[in-house]
Formats: sequence, C-alpha cells, structure tokens
Amino acid sequence: MKAILQLLHLAGVIVWIGGMFFAHFCLRPVAATQLPPPQRLPLLAAVLGRFFAVVAASILLIIATGLSMMLPVGMAQAPLHWHLMLTTGLLMTAIFSVIYLRYFPRLRSGVATADWPAAGAALNIIRQLVAGNLGLGAATVAIAVLGKYL
Ligand code: HEM
Repeated sequence: MKAILQLLHLAGVIVWIGGMFFAHFCLRPVAATQLPPPQRLPLLAAVLGRFFAVVAASILLIIATGLSMMLPVGMAQAPLHWHLMLTTGLLMTAIFSVIYLRYFPRLRSGVATADWPAAGAALNIIRQLVAGNLGLGAATVAIAVLGKYL
C-alpha cells in the first residue's frame, strides 16, 4: 500500500514540477519571441487553463497521498524532512491558489476583451509566481530525497 501511495505521490509531483519547467523554460520564451501579444496571450491563456486544472487535481493527489503516508506514522514521530515537505508543499499550494484564483482570471478577462496590456501584466505576475513555485518545488524534491540520508 505504501508503494502505491508513493507512486501516486510522485506521479502528481512529476506532473506539477515537470509542467512548470516546460511552461517556464520551453513554451513561454519561444512564444514570447515568435508570437505578437494578440496571438501569444490567447494561446498561453488556453494552455495554462488546461495545465492549471491538471495541477489542481495533482495537488489534491499529492496532499492526500502525502498525508496518508505521514499520519499513520504520527506527526510527532515523523522525521524532520517530512515536516519540511509538508510545509513547503502547503506554501506551494498557497502560491498556486493565488495564481489560479487571482491572476489567471485577470489573464482570461484581458484576453476575452482583447485588453493586451492587462493580459500581459497578469501573465507577467503568473510567470514570476510560477518561477518561485518551481524553485520551491525543486527544493522540496531535494528535501524529500536527500532528507532521509541526513
Ligand atoms: C503537501 C503535503 C505533502 C506531504 C504530507 C508529503 C509527505 C510525504 C511522505 C510521508 C513521503 C514518504 C517519504 C518516505 O517514505 O521516505 C513523501 C515522499 C516524497 N515526496 Fe512528499 N509530501 C507532500 C508534498 C510533496 C511535494 C509538494 C513534493 C515535491 C514538490 C514532494 C516530493 C516528494 C518526493 C520526491 C518523495 C519521494 C522521496 C523518496 O522516497 O526518495 N512531496 N512525501
């Protein structure tokens, strides 16, 4: 059972971190250089809409499987790196919530009304928040994997 939980936990992590890496380092820079705002912003809003829905499901999976592995051991007995993973995981979830509930709707409404400056400003904030979450995600993976050897 633990192996299945860990497999599902890692599947969610791979989708979330891998998707952010692709969006930040591959998709966005190329779209920025090759497409003008009236083409780039609707494309990125549509791509991010699909990705964020998958991320929301992945987060539920990551937290559910993470807590299912942690709670039977007991919070008091759980090693430090599990507590750190829970903390950074919840911080990442909070940042994602700000992206999804605050700035992504601004991007969509800017695109819907062809207000490219407003859509571009929202996308710029989303880009910075995603970069922050990518850094936190990489740190969380390092804590999770290396923590058990310390
Ligand atoms: C948010 C709540 C989370 C909880 C409660 C949680 C809890 C756990 C637990 C209990 C394990 C099993 C560790 C072991 O048996 O040694 C685990 C494994 C792991 N978690 Fe999390 N986790 C959470 C979020 C995250 C996040 C956000 C990431 C990455 C961004 C992550 C990455 C990992 C990795 C890579 C492993 C495998 C470590 C290994 O076996 O080498 N976790 N998690």
